[in-house]
Amino acid sequence: MRFTDKSIIVTGAGSGIGRAAALLFASEGGKVIVADKTEGADETAHLITQAGGTAKAIRIDAGLEEDVIRTIALACDSFGGLDVMFANAGISGGMANLFDTDVALITEVLRVNLIGPFLAIKHAAPRIAERGKGAIVLTASVAGIRSGAGSPAYSASKAGVINLAAVSAQQLTGSNVRVNAICPGLTETGMTKPVFDYAREANKMERVGRLNPLHRGAQPEELAKVALFLASNDASYVNGQAIAVDGGLSSSHPVTRQEYGKTAA
Ligand SMILES: NC(=O)c1ccc[n+]([C@@H]2O[C@H](COP(=O)([O-])OP(=O)(O)OC[C@H]3O[C@@H](n4cnc5c(N)ncnc54)[C@H](O)[C@@H]3O)[C@@H](O)[C@H]2O)c1
Repeated sequence: MRFTDKSIIVTGAGSGIGRAAALLFASEGGKVIVADKTEGADETAHLITQAGGTAKAIRIDAGLEEDVIRTIALACDSFGGLDVMFANAGISGGMANLFDTDVALITEVLRVNLIGPFLAIKHAAPRIAERGKGAIVLTASVAGIRSGAGSPAYSASKAGVINLAAVSAQQLTGSNVRVNAICPGLTETGMTKPVFDYAREANKMERVGRLNPLHRGAQPEELAKVALFLASNDASYVNGQAIAVDGGLSSSHPVTRQEYGKTAA
């Protein structure tokens, strides 16, 4: 019960990684503001209260400053302050290549995926600092580490999130507010449903993890657990970092690997 009576905001909590994290925070005693642009927020809050936890849903656009301010105010008014901000909402923006990406598309992807976390840090950090200590966790992506895991717009937005974690951790020197990011690899969520659905239908699930040392994609709970670790006092000396949670995919250059237990041909 690492979050007993802690006030926690999770954005993008209506689905996928955010929903898994909101449920886990609540199961460890946290009081959770479940923020999302869809009715998924109400569903997640309902799941939490049904299980005996404390949650309030709010419909927001995580890339709009007034909505971020409104969400933080709800946490402070409802739960007496703010201890943890998990800025997780994001969009893929599709798979448009460089030349098919127009300014409107890249502007929208950056607004949600990068300006959203920026606003979350800017407005949450002072409230968390008032509590004496706390944490902010951002959801970046392995797409932000190097090419090959998303469109140019998405990848650039997530590279920005990784940098934001580092820079804001430094800017918050002396505040006792830590800022870290998780970098998920391919995870089965609403965002990637078509990939997993197609692979299942075509009986090609082994292809989903073919390039991964663990030979599979992740489940949202596996990401949520790392987000909770970074948000908790267990990570009290982890700050300004971006942690890849990708089964080892990003730890290698693209080489042909030898399978464990098999001799080279
Ligand atoms: N699924 C993956 O393979 C993967 C890999 C790397 C990074 N990520 C990142 O993980 C985060 C969570 O995504 P997910 O995979 O759980 O997908 P998801 O689609 O299941 O969940 C994302 C949630 O964010 C919400 N959302 C989107 N834009 C919003 C906005 N402007 N304001 C408020 N809510 C908004 C959606 O409604 C949705 O409920 C995202 O930042 C995504 O980029 C996912």
